Amino acid sequence: MRVMGIETSCDETAVAIVDDSKNIIANAVLSQVEHTTYGGVVPELASRSHVKHLPAIIIDVLRKANMYLKDLYGLSCTTGPGLIGGLAVGLTITKAISISAQLPFIGINHLEGHALTPNLMGIKFPYLLLLVSGGHTQIVLVKDIGNYTVYASTLDDAAGEAFDKVAKMLGETYPGGKKVEILAKNGVSDKHKFTTPTIKYNDKQYVYHMSFSGLKTAVLYTIKRMPSISFQDKCNIAASFQYTITCIFVNALNKVLNELYRNNTAVKVIVAAGGVAANNYIRSQLQKLCNNHRLQFYAPPQHLCTDNAAMIAWAGLQRFKMGEKHDLHFGIRTKWNLDQLSKPEKHHI
Ligand code: KG4
Ligand code: ZN
Repeated sequence: MRVMGIETSCDETAVAIVDDSKNIIANAVLSQVEHTTYGGVVPELASRSHVKHLPAIIIDVLRKANMYLKDLYGLSCTTGPGLIGGLAVGLTITKAISISAQLPFIGINHLEGHALTPNLMGIKFPYLLLLVSGGHTQIVLVKDIGNYTVYASTLDDAAGEAFDKVAKMLGETYPGGKKVEILAKNGVSDKHKFTTPTIKYNDKQYVYHMSFSGLKTAVLYTIKRMPSISFQDKCNIAASFQYTITCIFVNALNKVLNELYRNNTAVKVIVAAGGVAANNYIRSQLQKLCNNHRLQFYAPPQHLCTDNAAMIAWAGLQRFKMGEKHDLHFGIRTKWNLDQLSKPEKHHI
């Protein structure tokens, strides 16, 4: 069974073909460069770029896979959450191919794509997922396809957004996460040079949650207070920020793990996914956390952490296998939480 996935929810135009033996037969990602100087994604530019490039990328992926549309079982595309224009482009093209090639299609939640990537890489359910991307920050217990419990979220910005904003304050272009990591990794950087705050919640209902806006503001005021900013300062600020945000993840994961232990919920693996999980410092600290708890740590290869269509094809394939497909009236959703999803009933196809 082979499924083509299409991902256009943000600023990556991506297409991939995956089979039911977990082979990624072809995988193409075009990261749009139109946004670099704007400090963030410009939705209008993103939609135009998807319109311009998506058809050629689809043809390219079929060619790389040495396949025709008739060799596919079906099509799977991201239908939310994300930017409305990009989602509309992806779904409209998917529907058009579905009609002309008489293939079934399915609309997939982008976060489910990230959540199932470790499973595509061979990790068995259940696992505890730290999902950290440009738009989302969550700790989710992934029990099975469509069976997700969200234990913690951000109360304000997403972690990736905080990385991007700090990068911008340090004079780096969008997307800035990798650039902050490189500055922080510089041999001269000192992660304890600047103390950046983490919020402590007394209110019980927020106890597991994370917050990054105060951290962002602290970095802003640290920079504003400096008469000039040297390369050394930039490295120290990047390292201090990266250290603090990692502590926020580790603290939240510790709290969720303790809650799971209290409820006798067995988890053997912690996985990290989403663009921020490409960060090697964060990975190393999550590995330490897992060593302390005698758990396995897994993070997908970096190109499968950031947005891609292999994850959308895999989520679609799993749902097709359970007999799910969508009709031509299926629409897009800019907001769509993981815990709103459910497991489709199993049919034999
Ligand atoms: O998952 P993703 O590709 O797209 C969304 O669904 O948002 O994540 C993109 C985010 C951006 O904010 C980017 O700056 C961040 O992931 N990112 C990183 C790194 N690589 C990408 N953040 C920290 N360190 C990295 N190495
Ligand atoms: Zn994403």
